[in-house]
Amino acid sequence: MEGVIVGGTSSQKLARSIAKLLRFKFVDVEYKKFPDGESYVRLEKSIFRKNVVLVQTLYPQNDSLVELFFLLDLINEFQPKNICLVMPYFAYARQHKRYRKWEAISSKTIAKLIENFGVKEIITFDLHDKSVIDFFNIEVVHLTASELIAKYFLKMRLKNPFVLIPDQEREEMAKVASKILNCDYSFLKKYRSRVTGEIKTKIWKDFDIKGKDVLILDDIISTGKTMLNAIKIAKEKGAKNIFVACVHYIPSEVYKKMLSEGTKLVVATNTIPSSISKVNITPLISNKLKII
Ligand code: R5P
Repeated sequence: MEGVIVGGTSSQKLARSIAKLLRFKFVDVEYKKFPDGESYVRLEKSIFRKNVVLVQTLYPQNDSLVELFFLLDLINEFQPKNICLVMPYFAYARQHKRYRKWEAISSKTIAKLIENFGVKEIITFDLHDKSVIDFFNIEVVHLTASELIAKYFLKMRLKNPFVLIPDQEREEMAKVASKILNCDYSFLKKYRSRVTGEIKTKIWKDFDIKGKDVLILDDIISTGKTMLNAIKIAKEKGAKNIFVACVHYIPSEVYKKMLSEGTKLVVATNTIPSSISKVNITPLISNKLKII
């Protein structure tokens, strides 16, 4: 597919690197914030009747969402042949069902809006819950960065590696990573209070990590509480070295806390750009765009 890549306000660097790899035309977006906090976007040139790939991750969550809808509406004015949305981080995917009476199902609302703007395909990464895909009537290409993360650690030549998953729901990631690292994996059981947000972590099935290099892998680090609980357990169980990795890292200082708790390295992908984005998802996206 030949087309233009529009660098959304939250993913300009990633969009540029995809465009460079695929040799697509890159269209920049001028954006600014008015003094009262409202967003402004403008395309730097016409994209009349093109195949458009808009790259926009949903972080910072609310601003990037508003800007996404401004951009999609604007792109539609150019009568595009097709719109493909690359949305590496799907914010609000954790609210994919009603946990308490009368809650809004936020990810369903986002899906409806995206579809109403004529998007034909979406490429996204490591959704909190795959059921989010069912909210769409268009094609959702759901990729995982687990393999790229594991390959990053393969290059680091961990000694006697072991993959630990801090949340029972991520076993799929563990399987992929442990296969690449040629090692065993286990997972912890996590409970989160839907009211207070308090997180408790327990060992589900006992495992032996004494003297091992342990990679603790999760889809997302947000407050970091889940990961910090897992680090504590890994230390108590005698891990030799602890490495932490996630796909989506919500930028904060919490990685420093993890380092101060004895973690050797904290790494994330660039689905959300941050100072710890060491694993580049550009090749995965480019490969998919070549097929679409
Ligand atoms: C949860 O279900 C996810 O897989 C993550 O473990 C979780 O969302 C991380 O959140 P936090 O960093 O706030 O503990």
